[in-house]
Amino acid sequence: MRIIKTKNYDEMSRYAANIIAAEIIQKPNCVLGLATGETPEGIYKRLVQLFKQGDIDFSSVSTVNLDEYKGLERTDSHSYYSYMHNRLFKHVNLNEKSINIPDGTQRDVKKACEEYDKCIQDLGGVDLQLLGLGHNGHIGFNEPSDRFIAKTHCVNLSSSTREANSRFFSSVHDVPMQAYTMGILNIMKAKKIVVVVNGENKADAVRESFFGSITPKVQASILQVHPDVTVVADEAALSKCKF
Ligand code: GLP
Repeated sequence: MRIIKTKNYDEMSRYAANIIAAEIIQKPNCVLGLATGETPEGIYKRLVQLFKQGDIDFSSVSTVNLDEYKGLERTDSHSYYSYMHNRLFKHVNLNEKSINIPDGTQRDVKKACEEYDKCIQDLGGVDLQLLGLGHNGHIGFNEPSDRFIAKTHCVNLSSSTREANSRFFSSVHDVPMQAYTMGILNIMKAKKIVVVVNGENKADAVRESFFGSITPKVQASILQVHPDVTVVADEAALSKCKF
């Protein structure tokens, strides 16, 4: 695991965007695993800039997103599809057919999960997976638990996660109770993983995830055994780690 300490959020975003841009340049038909949340917003802005100045081309890239709220239509402004569309997809030359996000409207949980696992498999797996980090150490929507769940599944969101994500909704009551998320094996199978974290309020999660013991109580801790993980974190997020 490589840990890159950046001065601030902006430097973190540029650094991580450059890693993703390098992947696209080196493998134009790469499969990018993408994440939502506030943390990657700066990365998407930078990738759009790099695209507009002609440095990267998304025409052969495929994307798979980590997760989606269950029950939300793609067109719902709170869906992760809308998040991705507004921040990245509509600004670059990605082929609409190459964009993959779990179907939040699928009520048949087994079908939704199996279809998403098959979609990832048919693409030949993820080349580079971008991850944010939840305050409780979650990745995707893999919440603290007594086990790691391998594949795509439907998860009951913890109250702390719903509370944390309520800033994107009018109130916490509007945050869906469930979501579809890639599982830990889906994530661990990615060839490269880039985790981005910023802010002092993630410092405990960073210490427990990357410097603590490996436990499903802190789902991100499993990343310690992946062969190619780069954590790009700002000074504040690393403030509780000695290294
Ligand atoms: C959500 C997403 C995660 C994300 C996390 C942290 O729960 N499902 O993929 O990493 O939030 O979000 P933020 O970057 O807004 O702190």
